[in-house]
Amino acid sequence: MNIDILLGLQWGDEGKGKIVDAISPGYDIIARFQGGPNAGHSLEFNNVKHVLHLIPSGIFHPNKINIIGNGVVIDPAVFKKEIENLGPSVDELIKRLIISARANLILPGHRILDAAYEHCKGSTKIGSTLKGIGPAYTDKVARNGIRAGEIFRKDFREIYDQHLKNHLSILKNYDFKFDLDEYESGWFEGIEMLKRFRIINTEYLINELIAKGKKALAEGAQGTMLDVDFGSYPFVTSSNTISAGACTGLGISPKKIGDVFGIFKAYCTRVGSGPFPTELNDETGNTLREIGHEFGSTTGRPRRCGWLDLPALKYAIMINGVTKLFITKSDVMSGFKTIKICTSYLSDEKECREIPFDNLPIKPVYKELPGWEENISAIREFSKLPENLKKYIKFIEDQTNIPVTMVSVGPDREETIIRK
Ligand code: GDP
Ligand code: IMO
Ligand code: MG
Repeated sequence: MNIDILLGLQWGDEGKGKIVDAISPGYDIIARFQGGPNAGHSLEFNNVKHVLHLIPSGIFHPNKINIIGNGVVIDPAVFKKEIENLGPSVDELIKRLIISARANLILPGHRILDAAYEHCKGSTKIGSTLKGIGPAYTDKVARNGIRAGEIFRKDFREIYDQHLKNHLSILKNYDFKFDLDEYESGWFEGIEMLKRFRIINTEYLINELIAKGKKALAEGAQGTMLDVDFGSYPFVTSSNTISAGACTGLGISPKKIGDVFGIFKAYCTRVGSGPFPTELNDETGNTLREIGHEFGSTTGRPRRCGWLDLPALKYAIMINGVTKLFITKSDVMSGFKTIKICTSYLSDEKECREIPFDNLPIKPVYKELPGWEENISAIREFSKLPENLKKYIKFIEDQTNIPVTMVSVGPDREETIIRK
């Protein structure tokens, strides 16, 4: 079992980037398997914060292989910007990062279509990050995509022009103004940057390395409640964010999966539209947002905040086969007199055991637990955490039957407690 998966159990932004960076020393390969530049994975070390969108969060560790898998959609313009602003030189990054030839590209037309669709949706807007994700995955599944390996073809420009023509003909149906040049110049420069990297059949590489005993960590993007099948459809992203997505997004067998690390915040946040049963539209919600700096890493939008939702967490654990839980941002909750935790839902005043597929309104039922006062960011041993935080964690473990083996107490790499 040489592949572990780390993924988000809520609506994204659980702290995946921080934890992947922190545990990367235990792996040889770190691989993204889905999503694209809609992701914003933050990590911090030496007092510097980095935000990654396309590049796996193991990139700052020399001598690791980072893979952008076939399940990811790549915007070359975003890729180039990210590579240039990362810190290590491009020559060094070329050694650390490999790209799947099968990964589909996000084209300028996809970004414009994403914006046009959202613009024309009125009250049913998804709140997309406007990175072109939905249209790029649509073209992939419709077998109309361009894949990374094709950028070396002699007729690449003609292929591109054909796709652009298709997109422009769809856009004629939308009352939406756009500036194609704005997207195109950066995109073609991005193609030149991509060409400098190794673009190969990464499914062979990853399986060969694993057969030799190397260890891989698959890094999820978004979260389970944004999964295209199991999230609050249509208010979801366009990929499978769940553990099964790691198999299709990297070309690995389920038999090779070892641990599935499920990461969740001590409370909940969501960006964009869609149901959020425990949302707090009050002072408590504002406090969580301010103390937790809950503003999108990709779009800067304020994140909606609410109490921890256990039925949703249990659902995510079930769908993913989570073996270990990692809790983040419990430091943000220091100072609350009491903390609420949703244990079940009511629908029409009756207990509702399942998350409704049609997003029918449900009311959370809460249990109230005592809070803790102490600032916990400097603590590095589980036993030294405040008793009431340990009780909060124990309650989650009892409810889910999964151990919480890691507690993150701040954004920095070092602010991490691994439970012995
Ligand atoms: P991701 O998308 O799951 O990687 O998460 P984001 O990076 O979008 O959002 C998580 C935010 O919380 C980032 O600003 C992180 O730096 C920060 N963060 C991660 N873990 C912790 C933690 O335990 N405590 C605090 N206070 N911040 C954290
Ligand atoms: P990370 O990896 C939080 C949300 C958007 C929107 C919906 C669809 O940083 O956790 P899309 O652009 O994918 O078509 O948007 O999904 N969304 C995220 N929310 N974290 C993310 O990624 C997200 N990626 C997409 O806000 O509601
Ligand atoms: Mg994020």
